[in-house]
Amino acid sequence: MSLHDDVEEVLIDAAAIEARVAELGAQLTTDYEGRDPVLVSVLKGSLVFLADLMRAMDLPSSIDLMEVSSYAGTETSGQVRILKDLSKSIEGRDVIVVEDIIDTGLTLNYLLRYLGERKPASIKIICLLDKPARRLAEIPIDYRGFTIPDRFVIGYGLDYEERYRNLPYIGVLKPSVYGGAPPEG
Ligand code: IMP
Ligand code: MG
Repeated sequence: MSLHDDVEEVLIDAAAIEARVAELGAQLTTDYEGRDPVLVSVLKGSLVFLADLMRAMDLPSSIDLMEVSSYAGTETSGQVRILKDLSKSIEGRDVIVVEDIIDTGLTLNYLLRYLGERKPASIKIICLLDKPARRLAEIPIDYRGFTIPDRFVIGYGLDYEERYRNLPYIGVLKPSVYGGAPPEG
């Protein structure tokens, strides 16, 4: 019995992710030359991407981590609860928000307003995966790894009920795993 047995299809394999993250890291290294950005990431899905991306950047930089949860039943309001706030002030800092996936965009839409109020010098957004089909809030994505179709994906940090985050690729689960209809979001 292996975790991989639950996967119907690999959408983006580990080598393709590694190559793309290296490109993104090199791009950020160029774009932020002479600056000292802070990578702000949202737990937990973005953790794997953050860990690889920061090592692909040849720059002085720091990281900070937030954790948020959407209020159940109010998905479309975009109301978000902050479970873990920034550890340090971002005032005057060049902030790079590191996200695993942008789906409806509601989480990030809220977060951008929240971070903007803390007077950073600049805010840019990098996401590994862009799933534009379900977008409800317009998000100015500055850097993206891959655009994917409207499918529920797992692996490389992304979960289904907290599982599969440790798969080294981005994949789609067999329908039998979630017993019929694929999960939303
Ligand atoms: P939003 O809809 O853009 O607000 O997405 C918020 C969060 O939903 C993401 O950061 C993920 O944690 C989760 N999410 C969205 N789409 C997927 C998916 O296909 N697989 C796993 N998690 C997802
Ligand atoms: Mg996330």
